[in-house]
Amino acid sequence: MGGMKPKILVIGCGSIGERHLRCFQRTGRAEVFACEMNPGLLQKVTQQYQVTGFPDVGAALNAERFDGIVICVPANLHIRIALQCYRQGAALLIEKPLSTGLAEVEELRQEIAQRKQFVRVAFVYHFQPGIKAMREVLRQGTLGRPLQAGAVVGQHFPTFRPAYRQIYYTRHETGGGAIQDMMPHLVNAMEWLVGPSTRVYCEAGHQALEGVTVEDTVSAAGRNGDVLTTYTLNQFQAPNEATFSVHCERGSLKAELHEQRWGMFQHGAAAWEYHPAVVKERDDLFVVQANAFLDGMAGAETDLATLDEAEQTLKFSLGALESWRTGKPVEIGVRR
Ligand SMILES: NC(=O)c1ccc[n+]([C@@H]2O[C@H](COP(=O)([O-])OP(=O)(O)OC[C@H]3O[C@@H](n4cnc5c(N)ncnc54)[C@H](O)[C@@H]3O)[C@@H](O)[C@H]2O)c1
Repeated sequence: MGGMKPKILVIGCGSIGERHLRCFQRTGRAEVFACEMNPGLLQKVTQQYQVTGFPDVGAALNAERFDGIVICVPANLHIRIALQCYRQGAALLIEKPLSTGLAEVEELRQEIAQRKQFVRVAFVYHFQPGIKAMREVLRQGTLGRPLQAGAVVGQHFPTFRPAYRQIYYTRHETGGGAIQDMMPHLVNAMEWLVGPSTRVYCEAGHQALEGVTVEDTVSAAGRNGDVLTTYTLNQFQAPNEATFSVHCERGSLKAELHEQRWGMFQHGAAAWEYHPAVVKERDDLFVVQANAFLDGMAGAETDLATLDEAEQTLKFSLGALESWRTGKPVEIGVRR
């Protein structure tokens, strides 16, 4: 491999795929390729980023041997394409959510048990500095056990994703709606902080977004083992805000992503002690994530979400959909 950069293929060059193309290029450590079935889009990205492009996965896998493949198609296609690429020997970075169902995840798990290539899921909140700082404090244990935790998140989806009526978001089958699309970011970050979800009660509704019928608003409560957790999420509010909080035996932690800060408030203190958690632009998080994937391919430990962690988050989403449908709490099994 002397001096050769690893070859990275991005499959699906829509909104997030184009960002991965650009951010893997920004690492300066990879030779990047594009795969996109929409011919106009493929032409646009290959010209803009000066990369070689392929119209479908088969053509790409026949033409080159890729070291790493980033899967950025709609969620219902993630595992099918992952299996195709994995069997060719590539490391995989799969976009969130892992999938729309658990059966196909099991197939990928069995494949990985045999060959052990590097496979991770792109839960980019792992690289939010405020979330990382909270995780560090929790792991050190200075505040004692976590007892209650919550995420309060909202943004105006039409502003951030003007094409929401034309993409996978419109249908549950393709990973659409707030519970499968946005909520996994919150749930996975929470699990990364306080451990796996074990129970969920969920209320949800289509409250505002025009041109779709899927839920855009979610209120959920549950448990992550001994920790009581709540989630409040909508995709219609004007302010783009995300606050995570964890209250422990001897103090509280919070991260306010929109304020680019995190804080600690110990019992006996008079006020929050805030620290900066700066993300200059959204791409920066994806460059850090791309570097982590390249490091992991080379054998290093990384903060990227594992398949088991992503599967747990998927179980929460499926449990939340069931709880919403039945009006009953749903127990979530944990793989040990
Ligand atoms: N991490 C994040 O912040 C984040 C943000 C947005 C989306 N996502 C995830 O990324 C995935 C894609 O989302 P998006 O918003 O980019 O969607 P998108 O619709 O903008 O892009 C998906 C692209 O995949 C292409 N495609 C579909 N099937 C293909 C195939 N078999 N071969 C080649 N190309 C194919 C489509 O033509 C489309 O251009 C979803 O799973 C979504 O949940 C993650």
